[in-house]
Amino acid sequence: MSQEFATLSIGDKSYKLPIIEGTRGDKAIDIRRLLKETGYITLDSGYMNTGACTSAITYLDGTRGILDYRGYAIEDLAKNCSFTEVAYLILHGELPTFDALEVFKHEMRRFALLHEDMIHFFDHFPPNASPMSILSTTVNSLHNYYPEMDNDDDPYGGYSVTTARLLAKTRTIAAFSYKKSIGHPLVYPSPRLNYCENFLNMMFDRPNLPYKIKPEFVSALNKLLILHADHEQNCSTSTVRLVGSAGANLYASISAGISALWGPLHGGANQAVIEMLLAIHKDGNNYKKYIAKAKDKNDPFRLTGFGHRVYKTFDPRAKIIKEACAEIMDELEINDPLLDIALQMEEHAATDEYFIQRNLYPNVDFYSGIIYRAMGIPTNMFTVMFALGRLPGWIAQWTEMKEDRENARIGRPRQIYSGQTRRPFVPMRDRL
Ligand code: CMC
Repeated sequence: MSQEFATLSIGDKSYKLPIIEGTRGDKAIDIRRLLKETGYITLDSGYMNTGACTSAITYLDGTRGILDYRGYAIEDLAKNCSFTEVAYLILHGELPTFDALEVFKHEMRRFALLHEDMIHFFDHFPPNASPMSILSTTVNSLHNYYPEMDNDDDPYGGYSVTTARLLAKTRTIAAFSYKKSIGHPLVYPSPRLNYCENFLNMMFDRPNLPYKIKPEFVSALNKLLILHADHEQNCSTSTVRLVGSAGANLYASISAGISALWGPLHGGANQAVIEMLLAIHKDGNNYKKYIAKAKDKNDPFRLTGFGHRVYKTFDPRAKIIKEACAEIMDELEINDPLLDIALQMEEHAATDEYFIQRNLYPNVDFYSGIIYRAMGIPTNMFTVMFALGRLPGWIAQWTEMKEDRENARIGRPRQIYSGQTRRPFVPMRDRL
């Protein structure tokens, strides 16, 4: 903690509030004793200015477009690592040695299968069930099959097993939910395939039509998952921490995070972007009409895939995804008209005063769906892909919260009451 203080004056009294400084220069006014000392709370809807924790996992500078995991630039990680390597980094704080990575991969292979009883779950969802609802429900129920984490005398003894289990099984659940939705037989995980290959194989292999895994898809999927692996205190991660702060188990906390991610303002945006681009395509590629709608204050329509709470410049993840998208389309000679529309919209927005004034740039979700489409992943699975990527971040954030003994307390915001003042009770016979 620095020796600096902020001074708050209320009436004729003044209070000294300590300044906290992070390792990268970010600053906060520590108001933890504010209520006790002054009787006031702070009001901050949408938590625009509220830091809920200190965290050593992800650093984000939204003004300069910087995103680092555990001190490593996202650009370096996306270029040089596999998703499994980055998951290890996020979870353990250091890049793995060769041996450590082998152990981690072995654990994931060991736990990739689902308990056979869980497979019956998939039979009882309606055929058009949303894969996000299936994912959240099934992840929650993992606790019934693997409750060891709660029973362990050492609260963190079961951590690495539970982590490997959750990472490996969530991937299996995601692929199974797709197979069930199209009425195809399940494809089980293979110990011979790596994380991304395994996922693609479980999604697309068929008994009479073996799936040929394209290295271009594996590489693109690795990149996409890495870019989604953590993003500090976003809506779903804050949900995971909040639910976990009440003492709920890891599976329940992650399941709640999946539900939060589902929303179209958050992870659901990748699906909504493709739906928007398809609608524009159907409408004769008239993207200008949709840009005009997004700017019209009387129209609730927004340009999905644009804008971000924290980034006030280009989202560094979007930059990498845009390049990866162009690369894969080129290499595999895929021509997707939606990419042309997206590029035109970005170009238009870059010179439009509305977008310039509000710092609205493409975010992580703007181009990711175009790559998923090229891979053959259906639109309603896009947010599931986001969830697979975000898992290491959620687990690391949940664990960091549990291990922060000094600040261990249930998450519980306050409010300013705006309802009726106390009034006399009215018996039923007198109510009009
Ligand atoms: N299209 C048109 N106008 C927009 C957009 C947009 N996509 N985003 C923000 N604005 C306008 C908004 O109307 C407001 O204008 P004004 O100042 O005139 O009232 C101004 O920009 C500030 O917007 P805000 O709603 O106060 O910003 P926020 O920080 O509360 O919301 C956001 C951030 C991401 C929810 C919002 O930009 C949005 O709805 N974007 C579209 C949905 C989307 O792409 N979400 C994915 C985010 S990235 C994945 C993730 O990490 O979750």
